Order: sequence, then C-alpha cells, then structure tokens
Amino acid sequence: MMRKYYIAGNWKMHKTVSESVALAKELAKELGPCGERVMVAPAFTALSAVAEALKGTNIVLGAQNMGPDLQGAHTGEVSPLMLKDLGVVAVILGHSERRHSYLETDALINKKVLLALAQGLEPILCVGETLEEREAGKLEAVVGTQVREGLKGVAASDLARVTIAYEPVWAIGTGKTATPEDADAVHAYIRVVLESLYGKPAAKAMCIQYGGSVKPDNAAELMAKPNIDGALVGGAALKAETFGPIVKFRS
Ligand code: PGA
Repeated sequence: MMRKYYIAGNWKMHKTVSESVALAKELAKELGPCGERVMVAPAFTALSAVAEALKGTNIVLGAQNMGPDLQGAHTGEVSPLMLKDLGVVAVILGHSERRHSYLETDALINKKVLLALAQGLEPILCVGETLEEREAGKLEAVVGTQVREGLKGVAASDLARVTIAYEPVWAIGTGKTATPEDADAVHAYIRVVLESLYGKPAAKAMCIQYGGSVKPDNAAELMAKPNIDGALVGGAALKAETFGPIVKFRS
C-alpha cells in the first residue's frame, strides 16, 4: 500500500496578512489535489485570511501554538475555541522554540495536547534533543520523556488524531539535517515508546514527522525511511518554490 505522508509548513513569525494570503494562493495552485496530506500554519494574525484563501482546497489550516485554557483572564493567549472558529484543524504544540525561548514545560504542553484533543483539534506534538543532550548520550531519555509526558492522559481512542514531530533542535534553521538513518533510528525509538504506552498496532499506525532543515533536495531520502511519515518544514515552507517540491517529493 502506498503511504500517505503528512507535510506541514510552519511559517513561524513571518509574513503579513497579504503576504500569507499570497503564499496560500500560490500553494493551492501549485499543489492542486496532491496525494499527500498538507498543512500550513501561518501566524495567528493571518489565520482568518488564509482560511478564506484555502477554502475548497485540500490544504489543512494549522496554528503554531495555542493557550492552555478555553477562555478567561489570560492576556495574550489564544484559545482553541478561537482557532476552531477560524477553521483551524491542526495545532503545533511544544515546538522547541516554545520550549526554549518561552520555557514551556512538558506539563504545560501536555495540558495543551489534552485540551486540543478535547476540542476536536489535531495536535502535532514536537519533541527533540539539543546538541548538548545528544552529545551527552541523553537523546533517548530526553525524547522518551517528552513523548511520555506530552501524551500523558491521552486516550488510545484519541491517539490517531495526534502526530509526533521529531525535530532535533540542532537541525532547526541551521542547514544541518539529521542523516536519514539517524532520524529514522530516533523515529523507531519513538515507536518503541508509543508501543509501551498504546501497544504495537497503535504505535505502527502513528504518523511521525521529521523536522529540521528539510529542503527539496533532502525530502525524498528522508521520506524513503520506513519510520518517517512526513515533515514539519520551517524555512523552506515560506516559499511555494521550495515547499511545493517538498510536498511533491515523489516526482
Ligand atoms: P527549519 O524549521 O525547517 O527551518 O529547520 C523546522 C521547524 O522548526 O519546524
């Protein structure tokens, strides 16, 4: 059976509303009804306009983060209710930039994962080690903990709506990609952790994306690995001419 891949573009803190709409329209035109699952995550400010631009296409609308509460006195936060209201389907949670620059903990990320699921959203739970952790031999301990803590309390029946993104921190925005072999080995380890939590069939069915300097020229070899089911793309997602070929890595 041909696998369906899930390729997501994280636009981070880039693009005004009109720039975001322009890119969304270009992508819609370039990708057409392609066989892979595609998601884009613009800035909060552009979600509404991009939702409109993507209407009638297969491109899924995602958010880059969300608050851990439904509503109330939480200055500066965005609720899953507000995201759903705009047509957001997926939400990136626990990105390493959130973990490191904004000190998000596993417990906070877990609260968001549970809330996203309860609200019918599809979380992408990001995990990954720093270079320091990798060199200290802590890769499995760090990634294993992030997966276990991030999924704490997630019911087996909800797991199919969760995607895991393995993003080695040292490979994000640096031009350094993990070798396909190295990435695949970590993905395989994540499946072992998932199996211990949810059993073999669920672990096998889980979509695990790779992220960190994915580009048109390395996408195909990453995707060819048995445990890599898609990509979470940052820099190369900002232009149709680089995101398009990543999505169409088979051609
Ligand atoms: P990058 O970012 O593709 O620019 O390395 C990936 C990410 O942070 O999701």
